[in-house]
Amino acid sequence: MNIETSHIKKIYQEKTVLSLDGQFSDLLFESGKIHGIIGPNGSGKTTLMKIIAGLIAPSSGAVLYNGQPLCQDIFSEMTYSTHTPTLFSRSVYQNIAYPLKIRKQEKNAIDQTVSQLLEEFEIDDIKDQSARHLSGGESQKIALARALSFSPKALFLDEPTANIDPKSIQIIEAALQKRNREQGLTIIIITHNLSQAFRICNHLTFLDQGSCLFSDRPEKIMTTSHSTIDEFISFNRF
Ligand SMILES: Nc1ncnc2c1ncn2[C@@H]1O[C@H](COP(=O)(O)OP(=O)(O)OP(=O)(O)O)[C@@H](O)[C@H]1O
Ligand SMILES: [Mg+2]
Repeated sequence: MNIETSHIKKIYQEKTVLSLDGQFSDLLFESGKIHGIIGPNGSGKTTLMKIIAGLIAPSSGAVLYNGQPLCQDIFSEMTYSTHTPTLFSRSVYQNIAYPLKIRKQEKNAIDQTVSQLLEEFEIDDIKDQSARHLSGGESQKIALARALSFSPKALFLDEPTANIDPKSIQIIEAALQKRNREQGLTIIIITHNLSQAFRICNHLTFLDQGSCLFSDRPEKIMTTSHSTIDEFISFNRF
């Protein structure tokens, strides 16, 4: 799914927290690619992602999905997951199965999909546990498995590997790359981990104080001569 933003602005209580204009007034999140959004705390990354995901409205500007404004059909093909996911107080299995149940899939098909995800994310051993009493990292993996369960067309991830151990990061990155490669899943991921961004992203957008300073192929960010970006990269040595 191609996602285009045009002159997006978000104002909270008279404070402009996001304002995409000038050279970067229009951003294109091209279909079938993995897009990274990076930048310092408070730069507007989550705000931009929530606007793209249709969870909050921009104060002005527009977002188009394959050239169309948001509607229920498009909304139901997209999914958003954060590093502080909300899980139901049911079993891990039930949480992952939920998007399939509401889409009225057959029980056998649900069972097969959920079993594959439990195996892929190496969380089979906790499938009957209540999702209420899990560690932060376990919750994130379940939220991601749930987000992938119904094969969305676009996936928005807000710091999905914050609090995740190195082996699980590898599992998550592999799962994302596999869906991207095999199903053409369009992914937008917010990360503070620049080496992760370079490992998996085809495109990077850098936000600072609500403005966009860069939106291009990852390797090009090394040759921008912007002091804020230079400083960000130097703190992110890898
Ligand atoms: N609901 C809200 N009401 C008022 N201000 C808000 C609201 N949500 C976000 N903001 C402000 O908007 C700015 C951008 O916030 P946002 O969450 O988009 O930043 P971020 O880049 O995701 O930061 P982080 O890396 O810390 O997650 C911040 O100054 C924040 O305080
Ligand atoms: Mg954020």
